[in-house]
Amino acid sequence: MALMLADVLALSRIIPVITIDQVGQAVPLARLLLDLGFVVLEITLRTPCALEAIKCIANTVPGAVVGAGTVINLQQLAQVKEAGAQFAVSPGFSEQLVSEAKKQTLAYLPGIATPSEALKAYELGTTYLKFFPAESMGGIKTLSSIAEVLPIKFCPTGGVDQDNCINYLALPCVTCVGGTWITPRSLIQAQALDEIARRATEAQNLLKAL
Ligand code: 3PG
Repeated sequence: MALMLADVLALSRIIPVITIDQVGQAVPLARLLLDLGFVVLEITLRTPCALEAIKCIANTVPGAVVGAGTVINLQQLAQVKEAGAQFAVSPGFSEQLVSEAKKQTLAYLPGIATPSEALKAYELGTTYLKFFPAESMGGIKTLSSIAEVLPIKFCPTGGVDQDNCINYLALPCVTCVGGTWITPRSLIQAQALDEIARRATEAQNLLKAL
């Protein structure tokens, strides 16, 4: 059954953003993250095997809610749904993508970086947005200013890490954050699951303290 975006984002306060170079890396990584409490996983469409990775996780890791990141065109939106993604994320804002995701009943999180983009998204009925690239665009200061004038909830991503995620998560306008710090591409490539597990545990400990 299709999940609503609000339901997806309520499942986890941190969404690991994952880039998979070898499809075989996907399932062991998803299982590890799920075991350590990360239910929602975003696989970026930045590698040729990304769709296959989404399919493998969707088919073989029950309990994980797998979505696609870096969705930048309509064809990809259809492809990720077909692969079993339960949500899709874009780095920027596109009216076309918002309306197509609605038609396909796919939970969809568009990105914005400015008040004008956020207002446009609000006019179209969007209630959750990715704030990207969060740190480069002014971080908490900018996000708080945008959130003060628009009734929208955010998932800041881009430069969010172990040191600053707690400050974002403490804001009332922040539902969850996303980032690669738990699962950097280099560690996935090196199959350094121990280090990924260490980072995941460290992040969960932070959440417990919230
Ligand atoms: C994304 O796709 O959301 C970002 O690339 C994640 O940014 P980060 O690598 O700074 O966490």
